[in-house]
Amino acid sequence: MTLNKINPSKTKSWESLQNISENLKAQSILSLFETDPNRVSSHTLKWEEFLIDFSKNKIDQSAWDALYALADECKLEEAKKAYFNGATINETEGRAVLHTALRANKTSVEVEGTAIEADIKAVKAQMKRFSTSVIDGSHKGFTGKSITDVVNIGIGGSDLGPVMVVDALAYYKNHLNVHFVSNVDGDHINEVLKDLNPETTLFVIVSKSFTTQETLANATTAKKWFLNFAEEKWVANHFAAVSTNLKMIDEFGIDQKNVFTMWNWVGGRFSLWSSVGLSIALAIGYDRFEELLDGAHGMDKHFAEAPSASNIPTRMALLTVWYNNFMGAETEALIPYTQYLHRFPAYLQQAIMESNGKGVDRRGNEVTYQTGNIVWGEPGTNAQHAFFQLIHQGTKLIPVDFIGFVHSLHGDTSHHDKLMSNFFAQTEALLNGKSAEQVKTELLAEGKSSEEIVALLPHKVFKGDNPTTTLLMNRLTPYNLGALIAAYEHKIFVQGVIWNIFSYDQWGVELGKQLAKTILEEWNTKKEAPHDPSTKELLSYYTQNK
Ligand code: F6P
Repeated sequence: MTLNKINPSKTKSWESLQNISENLKAQSILSLFETDPNRVSSHTLKWEEFLIDFSKNKIDQSAWDALYALADECKLEEAKKAYFNGATINETEGRAVLHTALRANKTSVEVEGTAIEADIKAVKAQMKRFSTSVIDGSHKGFTGKSITDVVNIGIGGSDLGPVMVVDALAYYKNHLNVHFVSNVDGDHINEVLKDLNPETTLFVIVSKSFTTQETLANATTAKKWFLNFAEEKWVANHFAAVSTNLKMIDEFGIDQKNVFTMWNWVGGRFSLWSSVGLSIALAIGYDRFEELLDGAHGMDKHFAEAPSASNIPTRMALLTVWYNNFMGAETEALIPYTQYLHRFPAYLQQAIMESNGKGVDRRGNEVTYQTGNIVWGEPGTNAQHAFFQLIHQGTKLIPVDFIGFVHSLHGDTSHHDKLMSNFFAQTEALLNGKSAEQVKTELLAEGKSSEEIVALLPHKVFKGDNPTTTLLMNRLTPYNLGALIAAYEHKIFVQGVIWNIFSYDQWGVELGKQLAKTILEEWNTKKEAPHDPSTKELLSYYTQNK
């Protein structure tokens, strides 16, 4: 069983959505509140400690119903079963997509006839043992000292998930300093190494493939640095590795007992729940890592069971389809109102854009409709003082997800009320705007002359009618964070199902890697390869000036 290959643009609901969108484009969001007195309650979902309010979006019930019908016509429920049951839905790589199995307490799922539960349990037990021994200090370095610093070396999914979560859960962190090195830029690793003590540093090399240039280069530099201070035999105490490629790890010289396996059925950008999350377990302790998994599992159950209309990830996904395919939006912003989630937009950029940035459908034909939406963002309130001007008064349609919490973690209610007053005020301003009449009254009250008012007025008007979704959770706990991440993961899945694309491969990252290899070879062998005129000129400028 695999995913159906249904062209969404040929469905009946696609056509209805086109008609509905034409009608809705001419209406304001505020007018939708006027025509539907129950709009807030009918557009709000509650689940555990989550509240999600879709009412400030340019969408009405007829559009939602047509979107649910589109999901049905694209066989979403069937696709969900295939996803959770381990079907080979990553068809171009011949793999199942089972990050959900990693967070279930029990799973009977099999991959190609082989049960996976025992393997998952064994790796989790190993992660627990190892992280506990590092945290409690019983794991010693080469001079008998306990570990103080952990350096996660990985890139893409082997970096973004762990670093996002470690930062997001900094409040729950223990004494270990956890660093992340990803870029092949030598300044990145050297900047981190310069402050580290080799006696008390543990490197965790994370690479699903263990062939990624950046990670291998950084791991080699780290090992070389370490061997300036200690003998080879001590590598066992200071290096751990996470990968599916056990042979390559062996060649790198990492002790088998510090090797944490993962599986091809876990996609890199969905892998923080696997042994890729080792640095998370080290930073917050294994039990809290399990709480993160529990939260994701809670969201998995909700997504698997709830019908589309009350399903948080499904509705989030359908809303993006609505804006992306029918309302002409090209990008979406995500604004977390907590500094802890400052890496969440970057993490989601990989998860969303590497997954759904595809221009060919599941039959291999070029798509004739928009797919992968562009996502971006920064935490509020900082974002307000950076790019919000464009959202308020620019010319682009940018739906925004506002993500906030009822309680702060340190309990400073004075700060938190200030933060959250901005959170609510921004969605209010984006919806309501400020009319010419209001601006005029204000300017008159400020004592401006009529000439000044005429000159200033158009610049101070806010058209409003900018769509936002408000996601309000109780508190940033490991559990709620797990559920939040899982909600966005399932959103990606639903969008891929509707768009009839393969969300779990990433062939588009290969070409640049290949060409970089060719350029490096040219430099090493001093033999020129053919290039376009611009690249040729740039390469020659670089080689002459370096
Ligand atoms: O180049 C993209 C990519 O393949 C991502 O999908 C992946 O998360 C990242 O590289 C790192 O890959 P690996 O974990 O195999 O080093």
